Amino acid sequence: MDKIVVRGGRSLRGTIEAAGSKNAALPILTAAILAPGEYRFTHVPLLRDVTTMARLLETLGATFHQDGHVLHLDTSRVEAGEAPYDLVKTMRASVYVLGPLLARFGTARVSLPGGCAWGPRPIDLHIKGMTALGAEITLEEGYVVARAEKLTGADIDLEIASVGATGNILMAAVAAHGITRIRNAAREPEIPALAEFLVAMGARIEGAGTSEITIEGGAPLKPAPCRIIPDRIEVGTYLIAGAMTAGDVTLTGCRTDHVGALLVRLKQLGARIEADDTTIRVVGPERLDSFELRTDFYPGFPTDLQAQMMALAAVANGRSVLTDTVYTDRFTHVAELQRLGADIQMERNVAVINGAKRLSGARVMATDLRASAALILAGLVADGETHVSRVYHIDRGYERIEERLTALGADVRREAEPGP
Ligand code: EPU
Repeated sequence: MDKIVVRGGRSLRGTIEAAGSKNAALPILTAAILAPGEYRFTHVPLLRDVTTMARLLETLGATFHQDGHVLHLDTSRVEAGEAPYDLVKTMRASVYVLGPLLARFGTARVSLPGGCAWGPRPIDLHIKGMTALGAEITLEEGYVVARAEKLTGADIDLEIASVGATGNILMAAVAAHGITRIRNAAREPEIPALAEFLVAMGARIEGAGTSEITIEGGAPLKPAPCRIIPDRIEVGTYLIAGAMTAGDVTLTGCRTDHVGALLVRLKQLGARIEADDTTIRVVGPERLDSFELRTDFYPGFPTDLQAQMMALAAVANGRSVLTDTVYTDRFTHVAELQRLGADIQMERNVAVINGAKRLSGARVMATDLRASAALILAGLVADGETHVSRVYHIDRGYERIEERLTALGADVRREAEPGP
């Protein structure tokens, strides 16, 4: 198993290009189940989660090969099958095969994901959505089994604007007879990205990116090419790294409109931001101000940047209050940041952080993807070396993070870690 070793103290400087979005790529790959044939996806990030999704599609009969950032996928031989526990437990986004399998074959068998490192993360809204479209759902041996002779359009009011449920329902609804309306739909950019791909395949969808999406189901679908949108969370992570190291970092190939909440916030904290539609430059001050911040659904501040903002708060000037309202248990990074000397008190989903001038390097353990990113960022502003182990988490969602940080002048390396 690898670990990342960061020697802190350098300001990040330089330019890197945004990678493709993990969370946009995952549902888009499963949408290819809907129409058998050959697909070519470009700007696909080289990530473990993307490979896991491609492997899952392979178990259903697809073939794929990834050539750099181009992924070729052939779904001609996909058959009704199951998303097995072994894959789903490693990547919850596997549940995205539910809608497309049900739509194409009238049946789907998907393992329930179980808990994750930071809480229960249910899929009840996915199930309610499929039921509303006419599927009969049973739970058999830990698997959600969905069956439908035919899917029929329905009005679906989501209790929570879930990204995953919106995406899954969208993919099932394009094959349902009649009109589906998803109210309180997620507005995260990954949803319009998925809808755009489905429309390119022939689907009729309006309103994606707003809270009400209308789908006129039943249009014939065929394969279409797709370029994956830039990863707003990856972009955000490097911007935070630039700002908190008093650096000067430029990201190219971004969708600046997708990171609006972060840019507003970084400016308030004293960073200088220069941006056009696709390029963002952040220049960090000697020390950033403290802040009060709540995560929220898009266009609010993303929960996927909460951990990184906590690393920033750990060295900001004063007392910050950081609340996660989307995932109230997502705080596994707190105890690890404390090992680096961060002064953090937790009360339920609220963290109070007293910023210190410096942190001090230590051995820490990554417990999930964004937590790992936060620990690496903290290592950049810690004295001495920080060793972040279990780095496979970071490879799920950040392409070659050590190379990209090195390109920005950080002292970061990957080392093989002897097993237990
Ligand atoms: N929720 C339910 N029932 C459901 C689905 C969701 O109660 O059936 C709740 C969740 O517990 C949570 C809220 O709704 O409190 C939002 O969850 P959502 O369904 O939107 O999350 P997701 O689709 O499972 C995606 C991203 C996450 C990101 C969230 C929120 C993918 C593959 N994952 O998850 O990304 O945190 O949206 O924006 O797109 C990450 O990349 O590190 C990551 C965890």
